[in-house]
Amino acid sequence: MDNILEMNQVETYIGQYHILFGIDLKVRKGGATVLLGRNGGGKTTTLDTIIGLRKPSAGTIILDGEDVTKLPAYEMARKGVGYVPEDRDIFSDLTIEENLLITARKNGGNYQERLDMVLSLFPDMKKYFKKKARVLSGGQAQMLSISRALINDNKLILVDEPSKGLAPLIIAELMEKMNEIKQETTILLVEQNYEMATAVGDYFYFVEDGKTVFECTKEVLLQDESVKQKYLGV
Ligand SMILES: Nc1ncnc2c1ncn2[C@@H]1O[C@H](COP(=O)(O)OP(=O)(O)O)[C@@H](O)[C@H]1O
Ligand SMILES: [Mg+2]
Repeated sequence: MDNILEMNQVETYIGQYHILFGIDLKVRKGGATVLLGRNGGGKTTTLDTIIGLRKPSAGTIILDGEDVTKLPAYEMARKGVGYVPEDRDIFSDLTIEENLLITARKNGGNYQERLDMVLSLFPDMKKYFKKKARVLSGGQAQMLSISRALINDNKLILVDEPSKGLAPLIIAELMEKMNEIKQETTILLVEQNYEMATAVGDYFYFVEDGKTVFECTKEVLLQDESVKQKYLGV
């Protein structure tokens, strides 16, 4: 199995609204695959559908060769899929340590090892370890949110627009971290920041009106201006 994740003709409703009309994608093991596309295209809904927060009405989702189309979120988490949602998912009233502890799977057994990795990747998490998460800046909060996905030995992590609302310097730091993270797990990244997307991504899918409309390698994206123009309007 070369693909950690495959979506075939996935459709999703939110209430009565038909939002996804046919998402097709393959995420290769290792590295980073990026979902690009204008606001409202269906990128977040795609991630929500993968992780089981929304149930698809049609199509299939295959994780590492296993059909997970109908699994709820807690089972997807147990199968090793981490989620860093669009709005930083942290508990402000808990310390950094507590944020990580409540996320760690109890049967994992290698908490200390994972924690060492997270704290060396994000030294600020070590610095503020015993402090409440509310003291963190926006960038640090995003790093804690990512740390929560890394504290478990996940085989795939979904990351939704991590650069949103952050200053350029912090985004540059985040890019470096994402490149380190993809050395050890597979990333499916949604990113509107083109620089971040191309700095981290290896393979790209474009989502428009709830459908995947185009896919390409980084080389094509960087060389072919018409792709950018057509699908991103830049
Ligand atoms: N809770 C909701 N109720 C109704 N429509 C929604 C809801 N959430 C998202 N949508 C709609 O679904 C479409 C896709 O949204 P989303 O997946 O968030 O797009 P993206 O992440 O690409 O910006 C948009 O048209 C949005 O308005
Ligand atoms: Mg979104």
